[in-house]
Amino acid sequence: MRKSTGSKKIKTAVFISGKGSNLKNLIKFSKFKKYPFSINLILSNTNKAKGLKYSKIYKIEKKIICYDKKIKNDKKILKTLKQKKIKLICLAGFMKILSKNFIEKFQGKIINIHPSLLPKYKGLNTHIRAIKNREKFAGCTVHYVTSKLDSGKIILQKRVKISKKDDRFSLAKKVLKIEHLLYPAAIKKILN
Ligand code: GRF
Repeated sequence: MRKSTGSKKIKTAVFISGKGSNLKNLIKFSKFKKYPFSINLILSNTNKAKGLKYSKIYKIEKKIICYDKKIKNDKKILKTLKQKKIKLICLAGFMKILSKNFIEKFQGKIINIHPSLLPKYKGLNTHIRAIKNREKFAGCTVHYVTSKLDSGKIILQKRVKISKKDDRFSLAKKVLKIEHLLYPAAIKKILN
């Protein structure tokens, strides 16, 4: 990973598919001097992603790529990333699986936030599975992306207590709150 030098911020793209609360939060942190990254591109696989509104609000370029024609789109995305001198990709609620070829081209420069204490509960519906298994703790993990789903090296992890009253909605809310602390901290960690 290229480290940030002096006051120069590392140009970052955030890939989303939904609400984009992590995106919004990363934009907020990117404005602080202490955080060595700037958000220069928002990419979504769907024009229905609510988080795309942050493109207009914060004047950040957005790109919508239909993910079904993979190889053609890999090339398109790689071209845009190169043009914009993007050095880091943050997946934030991005619901598509990146191709092996794409991951190899950006080796070690793609990170993801996952709403569980990996290696537990890879994949979808993490909160409901954790509650069903009567786990005491839930949490979130920021990790490098490899071609194996939710399995790359862990950068940072944070946990929260699951209370008896928690259902999947209240737990998701709790976890999202700590995601917003963890993601910027993890980026800072790998760039400093
Ligand atoms: C987060 O819980 C993230 O961990 C998961 O998808 C959710 C995205 O939320 N991968 P948001 O779109 O950032 O609000």
